Amino acid sequence: MCGIVGYVGAQAAAPLLLEGLLKLEYRGYDSAGIAVMNDGQLLVSKVKGRIANLCEKTEGGRQVPGTIGIGHTRWATHGAPTDVNAHPHLSNDGRFAVVHNGIIENYLALREELTAKGFHFESDTDTEVIVHLLERYYAGDVKAAVIKTVSRLQGSYALGVVCADAPNTVFAAREASPLIIGLGSGEQYFASDVTALVPYTRSVLYLDDGEFAALTANGVTVFNGAGQTVDKPLQHIAWDIQAAEKDGFDHFMLKEIFEQPAAVRATIAPRMRGRAICLDDVRADDLKNIRRIVITACGSAYYAGCAGKYAIEALCRLPVQVELASELRYSDPLMDEQTLLIVLSQSGETADTIAAMKECKARGAKTLSIVNVVGSTVATLADHVLYTHAGPEIAVATTKGYTTQLAVLYLFALYMAQVQGTVSGEEFNRLFGELEQLPHRVQNALDMNPGTERLARKYGGASSVFFIGRNTDYAVALEGALKLKEISYIHAEGYAAGELKHGTIALIDEHQPVIALCCNGAVADKTVSNAVEVKARGAEVLAVTFKGDTTLAAVADDMLFVPHMEPLFAPIAEIVPLQLFAYYVARENGCDIDKPKNLAKSVTVE
Ligand code: AGP
Repeated sequence: MCGIVGYVGAQAAAPLLLEGLLKLEYRGYDSAGIAVMNDGQLLVSKVKGRIANLCEKTEGGRQVPGTIGIGHTRWATHGAPTDVNAHPHLSNDGRFAVVHNGIIENYLALREELTAKGFHFESDTDTEVIVHLLERYYAGDVKAAVIKTVSRLQGSYALGVVCADAPNTVFAAREASPLIIGLGSGEQYFASDVTALVPYTRSVLYLDDGEFAALTANGVTVFNGAGQTVDKPLQHIAWDIQAAEKDGFDHFMLKEIFEQPAAVRATIAPRMRGRAICLDDVRADDLKNIRRIVITACGSAYYAGCAGKYAIEALCRLPVQVELASELRYSDPLMDEQTLLIVLSQSGETADTIAAMKECKARGAKTLSIVNVVGSTVATLADHVLYTHAGPEIAVATTKGYTTQLAVLYLFALYMAQVQGTVSGEEFNRLFGELEQLPHRVQNALDMNPGTERLARKYGGASSVFFIGRNTDYAVALEGALKLKEISYIHAEGYAAGELKHGTIALIDEHQPVIALCCNGAVADKTVSNAVEVKARGAEVLAVTFKGDTTLAAVADDMLFVPHMEPLFAPIAEIVPLQLFAYYVARENGCDIDKPKNLAKSVTVE
């Protein structure tokens, strides 16, 4: 995700802003910029690429003199990583500059409204609507213009605003994206997280949603949307820098597990308007002639495809095959213009996935990428791209990358079903409502298993673990097994529950704990029978099922729960307790959770 910083005081602002941005580098970004007030004029410098490029361009900030300013590292969500799309953005009259972390969900409507009023847009970003709203609403009172502007925004934002007519003040605003104010002596700061503040001050206050701040060298005033002053308690930061980068979590993986509700929301909310699904540049006509879907990916992305397959087939009544990219690329694949190749990738740079995609494109397939990194190879090669808005994923083991891929696959399935006419209006509305609930379901799944750490200690000593399930539960079993393997180094296998009796059950005994996934009512009783079979052979059973479902409770030794929800979409929540289980087992075993041995975050070689 993006990072913002701001400064007002007696020192040169630019070097401090650059240092603050360097502290936010770990958040991941693809461009950076600063704006500094100089003698009543806003000086802006911004570049694609690393902050080092910005330091070089501004000669360490010396080329941008002034004692008040704002800065930004951009993780592209709308618009490729370019100089023009980098923040800060300037109003047409040059009076305002803005930096933003978050997603403006109604930016398209605002862009049309402002364009119709004669405002000129330079970038492809959602953020630029903010600076033109400021110009539009400014009538001499900057604070009033900021409040009015923010009242028009839907979505998430942490904003920094400077105005040439208010040369001693930086404004900030917060909604659903973190923003912390640092208080110094004769100087004040703000930043997206404390890592950028700790070198200068440990005295901070946290803005809450719907709050604003006006920072001058002499102090900070916090106010609400009605312009009324709000008293905020000062807090002292005891964290060291490293802990702050993880926002207080012990590992990036745990932080990213808990970011999933926000990541899923940021991914689906901009695409669900009124009672309609809007898949960015994908149009119904692009899909009308599709008669077959092939999903290709690697690792967890492949397992996300395995789960998404069930939703697409059930709703669209089209054949969906899910292929490992490393296999598909050499399989002399049968492709034509009626085949849609869906390519899943968090990094967008996985060599096998890119190779498979090129092979299928060359054979006539239409391509749709679902990818997290804007401007990545998988994104640029595709006919259409739907970005997951998970933000940068630092831990090698993917979590929010996987669940946001599922979120897009479910959106696609329902949209495609509407295009194909394979769901009734009533069913569409029911499933639309289920999609809207997905962020809450993921949050529920995070909250409803306080005993996961204890279960990790109980089962974490096993030398091998089976994850079993049927249908959608089988797809989750595959990903659950990979999570455990790749961070705890314990052998684990995802297995079709109905297949156990055809040989593999010979391995089941008291040394083989079995995790039985049972969140699909259509096959639940069959999976319960499989749980009974493995119990009879001495295995301990840890069951994952819907909260309140008692059938497995009579069989299982332990339970993990998932909130009741549409079974087709259940994998997005069902995987969460398994992510936490794997995390706690790995931590219990003293593993290097964020950087497991032998693994890379993006496998860019064959
Ligand atoms: C997932 O936890 C692994 N790190 C790995 O399997 C990963 O999913 C796979 O390499 C694909 O990566 P991608 O999504 O960036 O293409």
